[in-house]
Amino acid sequence: MEGDILRRGRIRGVKPPEVDRYTSSIEADKWIFEADLMVDKAHVVMLVEQGIIPLEDGLAIIEKLDEIGRMGYEEVTRSSFEDIHVAIETRLIEALGEDVGGRMHTARSRNDEVATCIRFALRRQLIGLLGELLELMKVLHSRSLEHLDAIMPGYTHTQHAQPVTLAHHLNAHLDSFERDFERILDAYRRVNLSPLGAGALATTGFPINRFRTAELLGFDGLVENSMDAVSARDFILETLSCLAILATHLSRIAEELVLWSSLEFGYAELPDEYSSTSSIMPQKKNPDTMELTRAKACRVYGNLAAALSMLKALPLTYNRDLQEVTPRLWDSVETVRSMLRIVSGALKNVEFKTEAMRIRVSEGFSTATELADLLVRRRGLAFRTAHMIVGALVSEALSRGLKPEQVDGKLLDEVSVRVYGKPMNLADEEVREALTPSKCVEVRKVVGGPSPETVREALEHRRKLIERLEKKLKSLEEKEYAVERRLAEAVEKLRKQLRA
Ligand code: ARG
Repeated sequence: MEGDILRRGRIRGVKPPEVDRYTSSIEADKWIFEADLMVDKAHVVMLVEQGIIPLEDGLAIIEKLDEIGRMGYEEVTRSSFEDIHVAIETRLIEALGEDVGGRMHTARSRNDEVATCIRFALRRQLIGLLGELLELMKVLHSRSLEHLDAIMPGYTHTQHAQPVTLAHHLNAHLDSFERDFERILDAYRRVNLSPLGAGALATTGFPINRFRTAELLGFDGLVENSMDAVSARDFILETLSCLAILATHLSRIAEELVLWSSLEFGYAELPDEYSSTSSIMPQKKNPDTMELTRAKACRVYGNLAAALSMLKALPLTYNRDLQEVTPRLWDSVETVRSMLRIVSGALKNVEFKTEAMRIRVSEGFSTATELADLLVRRRGLAFRTAHMIVGALVSEALSRGLKPEQVDGKLLDEVSVRVYGKPMNLADEEVREALTPSKCVEVRKVVGGPSPETVREALEHRRKLIERLEKKLKSLEEKEYAVERRLAEAVEKLRKQLRA
């Protein structure tokens, strides 16, 4: 077809290539190619059902749209277009002539169209992403189950704090991802609303049926106010925020795996497939995938900050600025989905060095709290007093170069007489037991605590929770299949009408 379908009336002439590239969204629009075809078809079905365009024209358009879908994004966008909406409409008019193809855009605008496409495509991306998140949760769950008894130091300030287990540690990460899952599900509810029918900003005088297109496209409801519908992008901000938080959680695991892979920690060895080496230092095994995961989180934050800045103080309704927001969304979606797959893959086969953890935990006096608790229980001391005595004991042991297992009742009494004026008179075995990491873990049976039986129970709850989330996700996936089916059925019904 000759020329630009939009530039034949009010303005003329072709844009110079530089302006063309500057104003076109065609590259990012690959994300909404399929969505746009669905949105086009649903709109046309509704136009026919409402008697706004002739049945034959509507069916011819739908048939061509299917063909354009089979052509694929690359072929459809071979010449330069302002965006995918113009590209598809141009191909349609090329094939059917303007008197037929030119009817598709009746009673709508690219403003409601693009908002609908983004929401439709995003919804499907979120479902895919939730599947990948669930996979990660399962990996963490099964790796936790393997390590219920693997005692390791728990850290605060990156200093030995109190003994925990590897299972408890991994389960902590699992819980943060469970919240991410819920957060994204919640965002989905506000993503999955239809702006279609809002037109440019003020709907249309044609008797369209907004509920029908919403239903055909599997939306749960409308973004009702037409001005809100075309200008709202808070569903993008919300998604970007959820993704930024999820990326944060991924970066925290990644950072731990970087630290743990070091000789200094020696708690983990990543699979070779997830590591790189050096071009000069032959001995190197670098945790590059995890380093990149740390850094990619920042990229996801950047997208959120960019989108917030673009939307801040933007007057109603549609402004072309909005076109710059959408690619930030797709970049975060793509980035976080790859982060999820990489972290899952690495965690699935990372080798945890539980022996190194066990050795480390016995060295750092991370059991000191338990000894203070013992003084409280056995000698009725106020915890603050016990805290002082044991603190002085640790300081003394360290200055004499003693390890926790070399501390006995005698040393405790020496210190306690000095700082408190009285001996504690505890048996060596009692002192030793309190300072034994596995004992410390065993007695922490409070709900949410690290004792192996407590964690086993917690993991059983998590297993059921994961099952529930999986069911929820299945139902969303099935809802998606139903969309294609419902649309095909609506088209089939129109075909029958034509034959009759
Ligand atoms: N490519 C545009 C976008 O992504 C589509 C809407 C264009 N609307 C307009 N009034 N120019 O926002």
